[in-house]
Amino acid sequence: MTDRTITKENPYKICFVCLGNICRSPTAEGIFQHLVNERGLQPYFYIDSAGTSAYHIGEPANSKSRDVAHKHGVELRSRARKFTANDLEEFDMILAMDHENLHNIRQLDSRNQYSGKITLMRNFDPEPGDGAVPDPYYGGMDGFQHVFDVVKRSCENLLDELEENIQK
Ligand code: 4NP
Repeated sequence: MTDRTITKENPYKICFVCLGNICRSPTAEGIFQHLVNERGLQPYFYIDSAGTSAYHIGEPANSKSRDVAHKHGVELRSRARKFTANDLEEFDMILAMDHENLHNIRQLDSRNQYSGKITLMRNFDPEPGDGAVPDPYYGGMDGFQHVFDVVKRSCENLLDELEENIQK
């Protein structure tokens, strides 16, 4: 899954996916971009996020997600969009936040051509729990902080793996 050579000419394209594209996947996009910036690896990555639903199209990230991220020095700048079948072709890696997102993404892959690109975010978490980044939408700040912590750990490990494939 993370085995191709990454160059400036052929940057690695990652899309983080949740349900609404306003809480979990914008947090993942923002953290991953932040880590890429810290390591000076901007030319090697194209980073995006999307939602499997159309509920919040065009909206900025949830204010609680933005507040938690901001406290940790991460700015969330995404606008919600819906994940499309075209994204299956477009991206090198598609990371689902939970099993329902994974199922909905796989349903768009009607000929099962892209299964090697699609996986759970928490497959990169050293403490993966049940594999899901829990949906924080209807809960309090604790849930948003938990999402931030889980996604940060996962993104750090993911970037550690991908960095080994960069050819400068
Ligand atoms: P997200 O959170 O999938 O992490 O962006 C949610 C946002 C909105 C809804 C559910 C989850 N909603 O039901 O509107």
